[in-house]
Amino acid sequence: MPSKIFKVLENLYVNSVFIDKIGLSFNQFIIASKNGKITLVETGFRNDFAALSKNMTSVGLHPENIENVIVPHFEADEMGAVPEILKVSKQKVKVYAHPICTFGLNDIFNARAKPVKDDEVISLFEGCSLKFIYTKHVHQWDSLVAYWIEQKTLFSSDLFIQKGEFTGINKENCLTEIIDSINKDDYLPSHNHLNNALDKIKANKINIIFPMHGSGLSNHIDLYIDSLKELKF
Ligand SMILES: [Fe+2]
Ligand SMILES: [Fe+2]
Repeated sequence: MPSKIFKVLENLYVNSVFIDKIGLSFNQFIIASKNGKITLVETGFRNDFAALSKNMTSVGLHPENIENVIVPHFEADEMGAVPEILKVSKQKVKVYAHPICTFGLNDIFNARAKPVKDDEVISLFEGCSLKFIYTKHVHQWDSLVAYWIEQKTLFSSDLFIQKGEFTGINKENCLTEIIDSINKDDYLPSHNHLNNALDKIKANKINIIFPMHGSGLSNHIDLYIDSLKELKF
């Protein structure tokens, strides 16, 4: 699958794989500290890890320095490459996920994953603290999103996704694309669960959202959250 890597913020890169047949991109987020240590949010598919590694190397990031892996829920595009990372990394890899997800990761991959609590904050390096926010049943029961506190940036996993390639951080209004994706793919649960997740997300000041499918979002964050709360499906 064709994949590309983008530098989107000072310490943040996005690797994006586009699957033409379904018109969907799959994004992995690479947070790099000054000492070269790497945190990966979303692993991508296991079969795509070689391409991810190649892209990382092309911009001076080294897969053997992956130290932390954030898994938003137990699904192949979010955690499939965990065993490859454990093989390649020369670090003591820490995998963070919801307790139900860590159970699966440990049983299948012997990943020694660490369960995180709702609202738990971990400090990765100076200027990078991640808060985990459970988003139960959106769209799996072990779902969570990660909020980078200092950058006011949300890694929203399967929330706010859009079809099409990753093109960077989109300042335009993408509400139609977000709602189209929800209606066409029918992947979200009851309104109660969705609203609960949106309320928890909205309690944080957010400047940028990076969903795992589609482009980054900015400028219209409150509109996106409020519109999804009103959505009928
Ligand atoms: Fe998913
Ligand atoms: Fe996904």
